[in-house]
Amino acid sequence: MSETRKIVVLAGDGIGPEIVGATRQVLDAVGDFEYTEHLIGGASIDEHGVALTDEVIEACKASDAVLLGAVGGPKWDEAVAKDPTAPRPEQGLLGIRKALGLYANLRPVKPSPALIDASPLKRELIDGTDLLVVRELTGGIYFGDSGRRDEGTVAYDECAYSVAEIERITRAAFEAARQRSDSPRVLSVDKANVLESSRLWRETVKKVAEDYPDVQLDHLLVDFAAMKLVSAPAEIDVLVTENLFGDILSDEAAMLTGSLGMLPSASIGAEGEPGLFEPVHGSAPDIAGQGVANPLATMLSASMMLRYGLGDGEAADRIDNAVDAVLARGLRTPDIYEGGEGETRVGTEEVTEAVLAELGQG
Ligand code: IPM
Ligand code: MG
Repeated sequence: MSETRKIVVLAGDGIGPEIVGATRQVLDAVGDFEYTEHLIGGASIDEHGVALTDEVIEACKASDAVLLGAVGGPKWDEAVAKDPTAPRPEQGLLGIRKALGLYANLRPVKPSPALIDASPLKRELIDGTDLLVVRELTGGIYFGDSGRRDEGTVAYDECAYSVAEIERITRAAFEAARQRSDSPRVLSVDKANVLESSRLWRETVKKVAEDYPDVQLDHLLVDFAAMKLVSAPAEIDVLVTENLFGDILSDEAAMLTGSLGMLPSASIGAEGEPGLFEPVHGSAPDIAGQGVANPLATMLSASMMLRYGLGDGEAADRIDNAVDAVLARGLRTPDIYEGGEGETRVGTEEVTEAVLAELGQG
């Protein structure tokens, strides 16, 4: 690619700057990018008193894609514990998702062959797992009316979904399923036996499915789906669900790969608008600054940025293959280090150099 792509980098808090810095080096090895760094989360609270500023939203809107590290940490949690009205770092993440209209969150879960034994599940259960969680990201309980009433003795969070919101995420899931396979399958997850919003979800998914007769559609209640994710993950292809269920199930699915430190994500909005790409894991404040953070999920998120955001599948493949090769060589950051034969425990810098070497640099 000859054209320079404009990337807004939101490193955030904790290990964010380390993993994003490592990932920029990898991006530079596969293409031509111009980066602009901005603050988000706790770092923005410290500087501006809010987790996300209008200036950052505007910069993101004007970019080709946004690469994000992670937000949050005990420092700001403590501030909120003292004063519940204090700003929270997570507001930055939720705010930028909403402001960019990033309604579709894609979280692929495909354990790297080299890491199969790092999973807490038996190899025969995980073998063949290659699934995609499509999580609705800008609706539901995350963005409903919430508050306290009756002098603070009652708290409430509303979960509302419109037909239009359900339709567009369902279409995203069906399209993704078609792209992934010649015999596409979608599993829609809800709690239709209890929740009205889930009943509308299921009705709407069924209607949208009429436009996709080639895609096999199944429905599962979320509790059963949680069980199925660990008992028969290889049977799942595309799993589509609402915001909160998707948050929970994607962390659960992440453990199939052995570590939350391996899972990338893409958040996509309307056609032609910039997407946001971030690892699924958090800011890991306990290991921040020690040089041991696993940057691979962020590198794989950059690969998703190339593939889904910038239309450069070839560069994306190069990154994916380089990461696989490094894992196959046995290099392991502490979060995926098992002490097995052929494994070498390494830090962020070493694993990054190894990825760069696979890409023909360094
Ligand atoms: C995620 C995270 C966020 C979420 C938090 C940090 C607000 O858990 O991206 O999954 O709940 O969406
Ligand atoms: Mg989460």
